[in-house]
Amino acid sequence: MAKSDSWGSRVGLILAMAGNAVGLGNFLRFPVQAVQNGGGTFIIPYLVSFLLMGIPLLWVEWAMGRYGGRYGDHSTPFILDNMTKKKLWKYFGVFGIFTNLGVMSYYTYIESWTLSYTLKSAIGGFSGMTIEEVGTFFDNYVGSGGDFNMPTWGFLAFVITLVLNIYILSKGLSGGIEKVAKVAMPLLIVFGVFLAVKAIFLGQGGDCVDCDSAVGMSFLWEPDFNNLWDPKIWLAAAGQIFFTLSVGMGTIHCYASYVKKRDDIALNAMSAGWMNGFVEIVLGASVVIPIAVGYLGLDWVKDNAGFMMAFKTMPFLFDKWGPILSVLAGVSWFGLLFFAGVTSSLAMGTPWMGFMKDEFKWSANKSALTLGILIFILALPTIFLFDKGVFDEYDYWTGTVSLVVFALAEVILFAWVFGMDKGWKEINTGADIKVPKAYKFIIKYVTPAFIIWILFSSLFKQGDGDGFNLAPDSIIGQIFHVGKDFVWMKDGAFTDMFYIDMSRVLLLALFGGLCVMVRKAQIRRNKEGRKYDN
Ligand code: PHE
Repeated sequence: MAKSDSWGSRVGLILAMAGNAVGLGNFLRFPVQAVQNGGGTFIIPYLVSFLLMGIPLLWVEWAMGRYGGRYGDHSTPFILDNMTKKKLWKYFGVFGIFTNLGVMSYYTYIESWTLSYTLKSAIGGFSGMTIEEVGTFFDNYVGSGGDFNMPTWGFLAFVITLVLNIYILSKGLSGGIEKVAKVAMPLLIVFGVFLAVKAIFLGQGGDCVDCDSAVGMSFLWEPDFNNLWDPKIWLAAAGQIFFTLSVGMGTIHCYASYVKKRDDIALNAMSAGWMNGFVEIVLGASVVIPIAVGYLGLDWVKDNAGFMMAFKTMPFLFDKWGPILSVLAGVSWFGLLFFAGVTSSLAMGTPWMGFMKDEFKWSANKSALTLGILIFILALPTIFLFDKGVFDEYDYWTGTVSLVVFALAEVILFAWVFGMDKGWKEINTGADIKVPKAYKFIIKYVTPAFIIWILFSSLFKQGDGDGFNLAPDSIIGQIFHVGKDFVWMKDGAFTDMFYIDMSRVLLLALFGGLCVMVRKAQIRRNKEGRKYDN
């Protein structure tokens, strides 16, 4: 029987949790979301979502996790199950494994790009390239262009990155994840501060002729109340809060389930949450956008904003800093992304590990190995069908929609089924801070209402035109491919829609498979007469 794992120290736990939250989302996703959603306008809904949804969910998830851990549960299906007598809730908990497997499969792929780019920057491999050449390098790297993507190096780097993740996961929490976080997080901050300082002084040190990073900064920071009430901006901001804090995913529950039963969670949750906020708002916002706006202009950045900018544009811009600084900047930037990525993908691996160890008594090695195989299989379509939109499809269902559904389920379970009085006591047990009383009310009413609003306005968004018509980018619109011709075959070849639908089938099969496993686990529990109802 696998023995239960645990965290080594409080610092280690906080760094691991911060590492879980701080990820590619902070450096690649946040700046792009901000630019696409009005710059300074974005920051207001972002902060409101943080206070009314992010923070409450952090407390709820930490509390649920620690509570589950007390009964030996380390993944959401049975953490949820334990909080209620109703048997169906545990199937909502399936989201807390499903999301992680789905996200991990495309996330580890991006992470592997950052590894390759760190090495290429270290040997000065981008020096002298034009912006087009840097872009072409990327397209070749991911094997873009043909019927299928054939990325030789990209694939190899992916395998190496996955093996590394699996190896660390097999070493457990204090022996693996915590050790990595203790090195990666401080280095990431150092790299980030270096780049942010370089960015802020861009144009003021004479190393740049007609550029000024302040233009980008003020675009991001000057609040603009004009389109503040545009729901699109609110949805984007709330989505970013979910993704960046890793809430609604099941990883926080999993990490928190290894906390001792009287240990503080209230302050720990805040420390990790605010650290993530600092890295995102201060460091994440200070690198790509200000530097790119400085050199290429605000209009160019608005037209080209996308997370590929980090790969297709930054190496070219760093090259303007001379041979030594450009190597330093490249290694800092891609190294930082790699560290941010790895501490997050490790977190995504833990719910599966916890589930297999708890329910099927698998060893850490066996759980890690099967995780590796699963992620490998799930990642193949995102790698080889990258151009067909499969990658975005994974991100949409597992990295966006699932989080909202799961967050709504868990907050209702916590505040209404388990009960807010009991819940409040859970949050405050062992607390090293006084949690503002207002949050008892917020968690019970405001957070669920907020999430319901997000879910419904994403499900049925009004499209352009008169009368009621569904927007193609509403959830229902996506499901039915609104606004697109439904064709799977054209001129003897499969269409993108075919591949997209097949990737949906794959994800559904994954979800169904996990449900079957939860059912099996329940049967095992019944046989063993394991007590799970409180
Ligand atoms: N929060 C991470 C980021 O910002 C992503 C993540 C998702 C981490 C799911 C853990 C689990 O990139």
